[in-house]
Amino acid sequence: MAALEILTYPDARLERIAQPVERFDDALRAFIADLEETMRAGPGGVGIAAPQTGRAERIVIVDVSSKPRIKHHGRLVLVNPEITHWEGFVVGREGCMSVPDYTGNVIRAERITLEAFDEFGSELHYEFEGYEARAVQHEIDHLDGLLFLDRLVSRRNDLFRRKVYQKA
Ligand code: NI
Repeated sequence: MAALEILTYPDARLERIAQPVERFDDALRAFIADLEETMRAGPGGVGIAAPQTGRAERIVIVDVSSKPRIKHHGRLVLVNPEITHWEGFVVGREGCMSVPDYTGNVIRAERITLEAFDEFGSELHYEFEGYEARAVQHEIDHLDGLLFLDRLVSRRNDLFRRKVYQKA
């Protein structure tokens, strides 16, 4: 396994529409292992999408189990994910490994229903809510060439520079 390079805004490859995975083979699973290692190496590290590493395929990994006091399904590998139902709306703060210097406020559905495949081609069906639902929606946006920057409630009031350090 090897951690992969993360593309950062405004790299044009982040704007591509990713293609569906057609072969569930060892090469796919090797890539997913590298993608997961890359996610876990990053700060925050609760999700990653294949296009962030320059691979324009519909693969995301989400694992929000490190966050306290939230409902979650543990480690999720979602291949060719499709959200089939949206419910409710909620504003929340998001960050992204491809936008390392900023966070922003984004409106997402509060609950979603999702169909996908795992890395072996088995069908998955999930219902997500809250923070996990937000993370899944954020990662699926990457498959459609979208960043949280494209969904800010207001570019003027809802984009925040990360405090890397403070001057004395
Ligand atoms: Ni992201």
